[in-house]
Amino acid sequence: MSLQKYLNSLEDMSGKKVLITGGTSGIGLSIVDQLLNKHANVVVLARNQNKSKEVKDRMLEKYPDSHLDFISYDQSDYKSIERATEVILKEHNDFYALILNAGCFTTYKTQKAEEDMSLTIKTNFVGLAYFLNILIPKLNNKHRIIFQGSLAAGYYFKKPDSLENYKASRFQQYCMSKAGVEELYHHYRELGLDNLSFYLVEPGLTSTDILRDFPFPIKQLGGLFLKIASHSVKKASLTALLASQESVDPCYIVPRGPFEWRGYPKIKPFPKKRIRPYLYELVEKEIK
Ligand SMILES: NC(=O)c1ccc[n+]([C@@H]2O[C@H](COP(=O)([O-])OP(=O)(O)OC[C@H]3O[C@@H](n4cnc5c(N)ncnc54)[C@H](OP(=O)(O)O)[C@@H]3O)[C@@H](O)[C@H]2O)c1
Repeated sequence: MSLQKYLNSLEDMSGKKVLITGGTSGIGLSIVDQLLNKHANVVVLARNQNKSKEVKDRMLEKYPDSHLDFISYDQSDYKSIERATEVILKEHNDFYALILNAGCFTTYKTQKAEEDMSLTIKTNFVGLAYFLNILIPKLNNKHRIIFQGSLAAGYYFKKPDSLENYKASRFQQYCMSKAGVEELYHHYRELGLDNLSFYLVEPGLTSTDILRDFPFPIKQLGGLFLKIASHSVKKASLTALLASQESVDPCYIVPRGPFEWRGYPKIKPFPKKRIRPYLYELVEKEIK
């Protein structure tokens, strides 16, 4: 099946409001594009105002009749998360789906001096946990919550004693942060909340700006690897798009190709060996 045919087969989303974090570049931007193409009403939670404006202008030029809003949101900043949550509850409580896509893979270069914790772990795992911890108990309507996971979570081996000063390579920090995303998914799914349904998706591998903070030659070599091994950003957005289909029940979705790096989405059982409750216990201590 061609990619266009696959996209055409997805449901029309008129009248549905979808919130997405990190929709200003890479996979998130592609998801936003496809959601608008399917007439969804989209609200992007984004940290960079200039980028938000650029994306808004570009999308409104492509889809002039669309509804596209932005909320200021920095997933590494608790105050910003609290303000964004207030806006969601006040103005967008009727949302149909929330796609938790924001994530980064940083070096120490981008780290604030006063921070003890890796920015990758703080953004991808701790900030996300903080956001859900204040948002989920206040949701009364029916919603679907879609976690953007990563196959990197399966490459995480070094168990931390705490989330602060986690001494591991940047790659292991990223893998642990995405294993943390999986753990948040399990935690909330197991609560069995009647009004909420939870989905975990992986995009596979795709060439985006995610390695932007890395120095030469890691950035270039990493980028080259992603270009060779990966599929297009549009294809990488399909797992989250499939999870946003009304006809799809709560599930775990990955690309169906070799090593689950690329290809069209497939639904599969979540591997039990990748469930690590201790990660939730660690983050719970951090956000209380
Ligand atoms: N690329 C891959 O092969 C791959 C594979 C598996 C999983 N993923 C996951 O897919 C998601 C999207 O990654 P991508 O590859 O599309 O990378 P990307 O192009 O760098 O996009 C990441 C998005 O997250 C946003 N973001 C980063 N830090 C943030 C923060 N503190 N607060 C709010 N938003 C923040 C970025 O905002 P700005 O636009 O302002 O920078 C951007 O919109 C991530 O969760 C990543 O872990 C990617």
